[in-house]
Amino acid sequence: MRDVAIIGVGHTKFGELWERSFRELISEAGLGAIEDSNIGGADLEAMFVGNMSSGLFVEQEHIAALISDSMGLNPIPCTRVEAACASGGLALRQGIMAVASGYHDVVVSAGVEKMTDVVDATPAIATASDQEWEAQQGATFPSLYAMIARRHMHEYGTTREQLAMMSVVNHKNAANNPYAQFPFETTVEKVINSSPVADPLTLLDCSPVSDGAAAVVICAADKAKEFTDTPIYVKASAQASGTMALHSRRDICTIDSTIAASRKAYKMAGVTVKDIDATEVHDCFSINGLLAIEDLGFAEKGKGGIALEEGQTMIDGDFPINPSGGLKARGHPLGATGIAQAAEIVWQLRGEAGKRQVEGAEIGMTHNIGGTGGTAAVHIFGRDRN
Ligand code: COA
Repeated sequence: MRDVAIIGVGHTKFGELWERSFRELISEAGLGAIEDSNIGGADLEAMFVGNMSSGLFVEQEHIAALISDSMGLNPIPCTRVEAACASGGLALRQGIMAVASGYHDVVVSAGVEKMTDVVDATPAIATASDQEWEAQQGATFPSLYAMIARRHMHEYGTTREQLAMMSVVNHKNAANNPYAQFPFETTVEKVINSSPVADPLTLLDCSPVSDGAAAVVICAADKAKEFTDTPIYVKASAQASGTMALHSRRDICTIDSTIAASRKAYKMAGVTVKDIDATEVHDCFSINGLLAIEDLGFAEKGKGGIALEEGQTMIDGDFPINPSGGLKARGHPLGATGIAQAAEIVWQLRGEAGKRQVEGAEIGMTHNIGGTGGTAAVHIFGRDRN
């Protein structure tokens, strides 16, 4: 396999974007990434797009062709990738594998979701759970994650305040992210006292319903410096599958797919968790950010809450988590999230993240999951090729 680098990123504002159409969002991100990379249109060989449910959210299928057409990329091959909230992470992985294998030299991996056109996004999102055993019995993602949160509190003594800290840190970072949906700071008290959603989770524990798109240009490492002085190298791309429904898990407080993908990624990159300077985790609900901290190996099982309480995940902490503001505060347009995470790590490793910069970041990681962990994708990136 060849070494691979990211040479360009594009990102729309995330939020409730009534004035922007689906095709406008993906075109802005995709063309933004192409411009940032300095490639010419003729250099681009293929595109992969992560999207969970354009059919349910905007009543449009066959979106890969629509996107290629809208962006003026015909006749290059464009392929849609679906894995619920991990669609972007898997589109990234498809692009990386296409270049690493030698099949293509330069490709775009992107993600897009326009969720706010429907009146109630909850049933559409719930189609990514186990329909027969969960959604059809009335479960939604907020309620599934609320059960995990309750169990974690029961098993490990995790407190409501510790859970809220995940959101407080996310919002603090998002306040410095011009692309974030909710760029305001909050407090533990405000999180706990915000509207109840599914006990113990409140509004400020939840990622929002979002519109947005993001894209990266992926290139063979040997060619990368023809286009940019600051390629960011892909050190590992790993994916794992896990049990869909919570009731058949050995332990609902652990996401086994995160453990499997991250351990494979650390091995592939030749690093340990201690080497990672900045990480974007999949905190669709505060409890899931806490589980990620544990399952990626930053904290022992049951100690994620303590790490949050002690400020270890802050930008200047022992292991900075979600400098972008995470799914909670940057926003979570499902198919775009895995790519937006990679965009943030590229900015961090280039030293271009402004006031949310993790000083001296050299190795970064992204963690993107689908549903409650049926799919996990973990990527590790570095400033240095070796
Ligand atoms: N965080 C902070 N503020 C939020 C928010 C969030 N997650 N979601 C909505 N708001 C704000 C809105 O901006 C709005 O503010 P305004 O009154 O000042 O305009 C207000 O709260 C009400 O917004 P509304 O859209 O009516 O909220 P809602 O009650 O319909 O939805 C949730 C709130 C939390 C239920 C919804 O965002 C949700 O379902 N989130 C989870 C999405 C999900 O499951 N993703 C996949 C994960 S696996």
